[in-house]
Amino acid sequence: MDKIRIRGGHALKGIIPISGAKNAALPLMSAALLTEGELKLSNIPYLADVITMANLLVQHGTTLHMDEKSASATGFGRTIGLKAANITNFTAPYDLVRTMRASVLVLGPLLARFGQAKVSLPGGCAIGTRPIDLHLKALEQMGALIELADGYINAFVKGKLKGADITFDTVTVTGTENVMMAATLAEGETTLRNAAREPEVTDLANCLVKMGANIQGIGSGTLIIQGTKALHGAEHSVIADRIEAGTYAAAAAITGGDVELQGVSMQILGAVAEKFAEAGIDIKPTAKGVRVTRNNGLNGVDVMTQPYPGFPTDMQAQMMALMTVAKGASMITETIFENRFMHVPELTRMGAKINVHGSSAMIRGAKQLTGAEVMATDLRASVSLVIAALAAKGDTIINRVYHLDRGYERLEEKLSACGAEIERIKS
Ligand code: EPZ
Repeated sequence: MDKIRIRGGHALKGIIPISGAKNAALPLMSAALLTEGELKLSNIPYLADVITMANLLVQHGTTLHMDEKSASATGFGRTIGLKAANITNFTAPYDLVRTMRASVLVLGPLLARFGQAKVSLPGGCAIGTRPIDLHLKALEQMGALIELADGYINAFVKGKLKGADITFDTVTVTGTENVMMAATLAEGETTLRNAAREPEVTDLANCLVKMGANIQGIGSGTLIIQGTKALHGAEHSVIADRIEAGTYAAAAAITGGDVELQGVSMQILGAVAEKFAEAGIDIKPTAKGVRVTRNNGLNGVDVMTQPYPGFPTDMQAQMMALMTVAKGASMITETIFENRFMHVPELTRMGAKINVHGSSAMIRGAKQLTGAEVMATDLRASVSLVIAALAAKGDTIINRVYHLDRGYERLEEKLSACGAEIERIKS
């Protein structure tokens, strides 16, 4: 397994192009199953998870072609053409689903268009049990017959799914996406209440409308979808990745740098930009994106993760890394997942002072972190170690970097272009 070595102490200066959002690209790709027309997606990030989703769709019978290399000026972002005209296989197999939970996003489209789907239960992952009971309950309300056997979801509907009035018990991003996609081909009207409002959900809804879907309330917590007989192909560009942008903003801030993040807007950064400002980090809009500088000290601030538009759970680990060298104390509370503090013991090995009490972590600012050999456990925990390593004294070796490759396109290249001393050690 590859490792990454970082020698800390360099203030990041320069430009970082932000790639398309992983968590928008994955549902957008699965939306291709809703039509026999071609769905053309641009600004797709070249990530392990995107390749996994591509493999999953191809084994269902989708034809797919992807740019060999990026055609964009920044050198990032691929265009993918997907055509699900001849779907021959309705099973999403365990060996693919277990590597990427987002595979469950084929369930709604397959059920809506073909009346059947057999999808492996995703199982838990490092950050929690991550059930999909709310996806299944909503689809059953729309008339699906669902039984669980041998670790698989066997879903079937006689005729077409029926529109229903559905309230999600908790906000679920992929649950909202799965059911919204299913509702576009159901008979009648579906209302989704307590729907997720993440920008990636909005991006999917906007693409579905381009494909001929009828969706009201986009961007709000209540989506109203009028089912249609069929959808057609479309072209769509994936929105920028606000979590990647927030991650590099934290890297610029912790090193006292000055970095322009290109391709992302202040608006999409939302609560992250507000919280960073409270901590003393300057994020200002520029013609091509946002500029991140840290002129004076870093102050400890309190953070509570919430569904959008609150502070995103996918930025919790990165914020914690930043707070380990802030002045004063900060309290970070994780309200979305039950076990998303795996980065704590690793940051502690680098000299961070963190105490976890249930779903809250108290961080007391340390003068200086020191490099160590650490291990990545999940996508965002691993990148929090990169952020800490950039500011730490000496060398840090990060093991199991395949987690990073799932969500960050050419991370070493983007960071070393801004002066970071970072290299990948091939195993
Ligand atoms: C999406 O996961 C993202 N993944 C996650 O990003 C992100 O952390 C999460 O939303 C929250 O924002 C993709 O979009 C591909 P949820 P998802 O359903 O949809 C509970 C990353 O790092 N829940 O919104 O799986 C669940 O256990 C990844 O890029 C149920 O109880 O998350 C959790 O506590 C990690 N039953 C909460 O809801 C359900 O049926 C939110 O989960 C579904 C969810």
